Amino acid sequence: MRLPEQQAAPVELTPVNTLPRIEIAATIEEAARLAAGRIVNIVNRDPYAAITYATGQTMIPVYAEVARLLTANGTTFVNTEAFHLDEYFPTDPSAAYSFVGYVREKIFGPFGIPLAQRHEMDGLAQDPIAEAARYEALLASRPISLAILGIGPGGHIGFNEQGTPFDIRTHVANLAEETIYRDHEERRLATPELAITQGIGNILDAEQIILVAYGSQKGEYLRKALHGPITPDCPASALRLAPDRVTLYLDQEAASVALST
Ligand code: F6R
Repeated sequence: MRLPEQQAAPVELTPVNTLPRIEIAATIEEAARLAAGRIVNIVNRDPYAAITYATGQTMIPVYAEVARLLTANGTTFVNTEAFHLDEYFPTDPSAAYSFVGYVREKIFGPFGIPLAQRHEMDGLAQDPIAEAARYEALLASRPISLAILGIGPGGHIGFNEQGTPFDIRTHVANLAEETIYRDHEERRLATPELAITQGIGNILDAEQIILVAYGSQKGEYLRKALHGPITPDCPASALRLAPDRVTLYLDQEAASVALST
């Protein structure tokens, strides 16, 4: 199933020359440790933080390290609120690729987030557009303290694919060919072609935004996002509209490509 394509409205852009803060680590493990330390610090300062969690392979060592730090230093996430960035549609939480399944296993359980504060997207909703609207209303009910992001094909953030308007809110997205190729061919996952995702507008509303990336392919997406035009053709370039609220955590391999001009 596909939705009719949306046209990105032309965006009025003020030139922004400031880059986000960038933290570079020698290895993937060290980059994940830096990002995890930042997440735990934010919760230490604000135990009631509302957090949007990206899923995906990039975040696995980050969340494992957060869980380890919680046991080691006694920080608690028990008062935090947890929000999804996105979920494939339609998707049962028991599917190998389900982001709901992922957050239950790697975040909600290990971080000890109580049921009432776990705000799940329903990948099995009868009407995905109504589910996106329900989720948008939920997000509107409180400010997001921290949005945690990865980056994927075409520079997507969440499932805001190339061409997505920067002011879009939670919506149902057609996944891009490159994303479907990655999932079906490179990762051998039978993912659907639609997803429900927070929009770039929601992401830019967050008080703090962190993006984690490793390796040269992610570095190349970021090189375009950091040095190319700020345009819906490169969704992650929207992060340059809020440079003082964004931090990138990169391993050396991603950074050496991302920072080459
Ligand atoms: C996942 C998400 C996506 C991923 C991106 C990178 O919740 O929103 O934007 O962050 O596709 O995925 P990985 O880390 O698996 O390479």
